[in-house]
Amino acid sequence: MTTYRKAEPADVPAIFTLISRYAAERLLLARGLDDLHASVGDFTVAVEKGRVVGCGSLKLYDVQVAEVRSLSVEPGRQSRGLGQGLMKRLLREAESLGLETVFALTTVPGFFRKCGFQEVARENFPAKIRRDCLSCELYPTCAEKTVARELRPRTARVYSRPLAPHLPSLRPA
Ligand SMILES: CC(C)(COP(=O)(O)OP(=O)(O)OC[C@H]1O[C@@H](n2cnc3c(N)ncnc32)[C@H](O)[C@@H]1OP(=O)(O)O)[C@@H](O)C(=O)NCCC(=O)NCCS
Repeated sequence: MTTYRKAEPADVPAIFTLISRYAAERLLLARGLDDLHASVGDFTVAVEKGRVVGCGSLKLYDVQVAEVRSLSVEPGRQSRGLGQGLMKRLLREAESLGLETVFALTTVPGFFRKCGFQEVARENFPAKIRRDCLSCELYPTCAEKTVARELRPRTARVYSRPLAPHLPSLRPA
């Protein structure tokens, strides 16, 4: 049986091992242990028999937008719904935080389409480009696609006016 929960500091070594494997294949951005300890609260993990077998995180960019990062399922456990299980919980968390858009940069857009995302232009997310892409040796010719999904936040807005202007609609790819 698979259970899902927010990650705890003790999960960091397992998360590091999962991500590093796929980072070596250039499927994910590498994450260092210091980075993971600092951001472990962003992660949700899939657990089987007490062992972390999948993970994914939600990185907030502003009051409306977050990125799905480091989504990974152990090789022997793929194609059994764990990826969708993790995504469901990340989307639920994003909605409960009142976010309006989640996006990802991915080499597996087919999986994200299954999860309700659509391909959009990367320029919709300039903060991501500044933060990660500009320092990446593969930019701007990398093979990753930008995908995004609009949400229906369940919480009432705390602010009467948004702190950052919301994208009226996402520019297509
Ligand atoms: C991508 C990943 C997280 C998906 O996890 P998973 O547990 O294998 O996915 P699921 O079993 O939930 O599959 C969900 C659906 O997506 C589909 N899918 C999975 N990978 C796909 C792909 N590359 N292209 C198209 N569809 C894909 C599956 O066919 C499945 O569809 P179905 O329910 O109709 O059979 C996992 O394959 C993984 O860890 N990959 C390596 C790391 C990576 O690339 N992460 C994405 C970074 S953004």
